[in-house]
Amino acid sequence: MNRNIFDSHAHYTDKAFNDDRENMLGSLRESGICGVINCGADIESSVFSVELANKYDYIYAACGIHPEEADKIPENYIEILKNLARNEKCVAIGEIGLDYYWRQDNKEKQKELFENQILLSKELDLPIIVHDREAHGDTLEILKKHKPKGVLHCFSGSPETAEEILKLGMYIGLGGALTFKNARKAVEVAEMLPLDRLLLETDCPYMAPVPFRGKRNYSGYIPYIAEKVAEIKGIDPQTVLDITSENAKKLFDLK
Ligand code: NI
Repeated sequence: MNRNIFDSHAHYTDKAFNDDRENMLGSLRESGICGVINCGADIESSVFSVELANKYDYIYAACGIHPEEADKIPENYIEILKNLARNEKCVAIGEIGLDYYWRQDNKEKQKELFENQILLSKELDLPIIVHDREAHGDTLEILKKHKPKGVLHCFSGSPETAEEILKLGMYIGLGGALTFKNARKAVEVAEMLPLDRLLLETDCPYMAPVPFRGKRNYSGYIPYIAEKVAEIKGIDPQTVLDITSENAKKLFDLK
């Protein structure tokens, strides 16, 4: 059985888990999962993330506002996030970033939300978890300006963009998309990426890896992503799990 499975990006607060959340989270440890970062997407899910983190020792919370929520945020969101982040199980600000696939008519608002939360992360000395969908140029520009520590989650850019991210000292998160049949770019990124900068993630309930593509995802599927990385790198899947869980512990400063 696999061990040292660390899921660096999950959404167990999602309604897809409403029917069996407690049962599932209560049994994950037994499947070799040693850590999960549960990400917030708005205030409500950030609060819920902290609640889950306080209930389960292996779960940690990230608190933050996703770019899709840019038009729905309360004025004092930074103050609210700052209070949430005081909880010792909150280990990151996320997920935050830019999403131009979803909307292009509020780019300035998205950028402002992203930058304000980066500044908060620096003030609190926490890493960030970055969402970048079809906004590689602007995301990179903002990251270069602020040089935060953190991870580019569900990385969908080119090996050249990955190189820029690595130069900033950041990590790259790869998930189920790497196992998809047409995942040429993600495979190229996995090829060039040094293992000590890789984090594995589910982004569950979405992005389940092959052979579960389209089904509800969960941290127990991380080994399928590790297997794909191992195949690309020509190493043992357990080694990929061992190294990526160490990487996550280092980035999120976990014991
Ligand atoms: Ni996510």
